[in-house]
Amino acid sequence: MKEKSEKLPTLGYKGTRDFYPDDMRLRNYLFAVMRKVVESYGYEEYDGPMIESLDLYRAKTGEEIVGKQIYDFIDKGGREVAIRPEMTPTLARMVAAKARELPRPIRWFSFPNLWRYEQPGHGRLREHWQLNVDMFGVDGFEAELEILKLACDILFAFGADKTMFRVRLSHRKIMDGFFTKGLNLDPAKGQELSKVLDKKNKITADEYNSDVKRILPDDPQALEKIERFLTASINDLEYIPGIDLSLRDEISILFKYLDQLGLGEVVEFDPSVVRGFDYYTGFVFEIFDTSPANKRSLYGGGRYDNLTSLFSNEALSGTGFGLGDVTLKNFLETHNLLPKLGREDVICIPLLDESLLGDICAIADELRKNGIQCETLLNPSQKFGKQITLAEKKGFKYILICGADEIAKSIYALKNLQDRTQVDLPRDQMIEILKKELFT
Ligand code: HAM
Repeated sequence: MKEKSEKLPTLGYKGTRDFYPDDMRLRNYLFAVMRKVVESYGYEEYDGPMIESLDLYRAKTGEEIVGKQIYDFIDKGGREVAIRPEMTPTLARMVAAKARELPRPIRWFSFPNLWRYEQPGHGRLREHWQLNVDMFGVDGFEAELEILKLACDILFAFGADKTMFRVRLSHRKIMDGFFTKGLNLDPAKGQELSKVLDKKNKITADEYNSDVKRILPDDPQALEKIERFLTASINDLEYIPGIDLSLRDEISILFKYLDQLGLGEVVEFDPSVVRGFDYYTGFVFEIFDTSPANKRSLYGGGRYDNLTSLFSNEALSGTGFGLGDVTLKNFLETHNLLPKLGREDVICIPLLDESLLGDICAIADELRKNGIQCETLLNPSQKFGKQITLAEKKGFKYILICGADEIAKSIYALKNLQDRTQVDLPRDQMIEILKKELFT
């Protein structure tokens, strides 16, 4: 219990953000750009609950998240529940529940906030928002082609160019084949090795070497073999033991089409892409900023064939990605792609005298009915100069001066606070002139 005189901190919970109006403006802008791109491909929005049964994540979300990062608790009815650390299991549950009636391909997107007990740092928080885009019911690489193109189009829509990011792509079965047949590892050891490879860039070379030796104590060439695998090109795959060559052909076809779409230079085949989730079964990919300022991936995704089968007998193959708002913002800031978002299309009307309140409200109403956003300053005791300063501080570009004289003459003055110019607005032409001034 706090002492009565002791104040509570204004700082929020570690790893979370308060979204003040300026931050909200930015978040809404990010979501609006993303929404426009995904909707242009025909994706429909869905949402689900923040809390799910813990079993939903235990099944396939993976050790790293379920073992260390999940926010779980026992509810008042004694059930084990968790705050969602990712959206894909909820999505699979929802799709499985209606799998028979949903026409395919199912193309859905969502903007959930997700919770992971992480050590907060650059690109990592405990609560983040994530655009999830997923397609179900297309078993071939055609789905990956669309998903990858869409993922790139989102960054292009923010003004990015092809030098600013790279998509690293691999296939889960390539790694599985190499582990089981090339390194003779059983699934448990393979899983262990994939975790080591996943964190390879975050640990020291000595730590990495000793981890590999621990998992493969009887293979003196293990490090060399793994290195050859990790740096293999698509054509090198035929020299890597354990790889099913039909996978190489599938990857080559996907790259042929990516080339045709102008994305060949952006997407790279990279067998070192692991992805920490247990549900991926096919293509996996991550998108990275080419700037060394941002090391964390912008997107992560892939194909999962057996997530819906956790809930029903009907297996339905899904493929998709998650794009985080924290890493996206870092990317846009690094490349100077964040626009200045202000209140430029909102009209501010000062109230210069209390007796004018009725007129001001009527003018404001007329603007609003015509789709023009409008805010009134409701403090007539403040001098005009003070109200202008306040309007500037609140970020308005325009104020509409409607004093007693202006109201009597039915001509208002629209003042641009940035360049200090002024335009007269006769009441009967006000809307027309304003729209031109604001929106052209
Ligand atoms: P994920 O790789 O865990 O994938 O997350 C996707 C993206 O979310 C990451 O690339 C990163 O941008 C962002 N992200 C993840 N964790 C954090 C965090 N703690 N703080 C800030 N940003 C974060 C998934 O979650 C999969 N369920 C995505 C998916 C959808 N796969 C198929 N469909």
